[in-house]
Amino acid sequence: MIKILFFGDVFGKAGRRIVCDYLPHLKEEFSPDFIILNGENLADGRGLTEKTSKILFNAGVDAITGGNHLWDRTESWNYIRNNPKIIKPLNYPSSAPGNPCFTLVKDGKKLTLLNLCGQLFMPPTNSPFMALESWFNNNHINNSSCILIDFHSESTSEKRAFGWFVDGRVSAVLGTHTHIQTADEEILPQGTAYITDVGMTGAHNSVIGIKKEIIIEKFKLCLPIKYESSDLGPQINAVYLELDDLTHKAQKILRIKRQVEYKNTQYSETL
Ligand SMILES: [Fe+2]
Ligand SMILES: [Fe+2]
Repeated sequence: MIKILFFGDVFGKAGRRIVCDYLPHLKEEFSPDFIILNGENLADGRGLTEKTSKILFNAGVDAITGGNHLWDRTESWNYIRNNPKIIKPLNYPSSAPGNPCFTLVKDGKKLTLLNLCGQLFMPPTNSPFMALESWFNNNHINNSSCILIDFHSESTSEKRAFGWFVDGRVSAVLGTHTHIQTADEEILPQGTAYITDVGMTGAHNSVIGIKKEIIIEKFKLCLPIKYESSDLGPQINAVYLELDDLTHKAQKILRIKRQVEYKNTQYSETL
C-alpha cells in the first residue's frame, strides 16, 4: 500500500504557511509515504522560486508539480531546470525548462509523477492526450510503478475526458488549476482515483488567492490592476490516496477541505 498526501495549488505565503503549520499534524493523521503539492503559485501567486520551493522541501514535501504559471519567474528557470523533483507539464515544448517525469522511491515504494496542462481556456500547448499516449509508447514504467498525474486544466469536460482516457492505465488523476475544489472524488471502474479539482491551499476569503476587492475592481473597470495576494480565510485543500503497489489500482481517495487558523504568529521563512 502506498499512501499519498497531495495539496492542490499552494498559493503564496498564505499557502506556504498553511503547509508548514499543518504538515506535522497531517503526517500524524495519515502517515503518508509521499507528500506532493502543486507549486505553480508558490511565489506570491506567480511561479515558484528556489526559496519558496526549499521551504516546502525542508518541511517534508517530496515533489512539486507545475502548471501554466510554473515559469512566471524567469530568474528561477535554472533552478527548475536543475531540480528534477519539480515536475513540468509533459505537453510543453521540450525546450521549456524542467523535468516532465520523476519517480519517487522510498522504503521500497515507488511512485511516478507526471504533470500535464489542458488546452481549453489555457495558454497554447500540445494535446495532453497525445503527449501521454506517446509517453506510454516510449516508457514502459507503467508496468513497474504506480503513476500519479496532476492534470492542470480549466475545463471540467477536458479533465473528465482525460480521467476516462487513462482509467486503468494510471493510479490517479488529480485535477488542479481552478483553485476551487470539486466534490466529485471517485475511483473510476478500472481503478484510477479521480477528482476534477483538488482546490487551492491558501487564502479563500479572496478570488482564487488574490484580494477580492482588487478582482472586483478589475471586473468593473476592465483595466489592468496590480494584484496582491490575500491572507484571509486560510484553508487546506488536498486529497489523501491509498494505492495498491502490486496492482497499481487506487483503493481510496479522500477529499480534504479544512478551514484553519495560522498557528505560528511569529511565522518567518528563513532557510
Ligand atoms: Fe494555480
Ligand atoms: Fe494554473
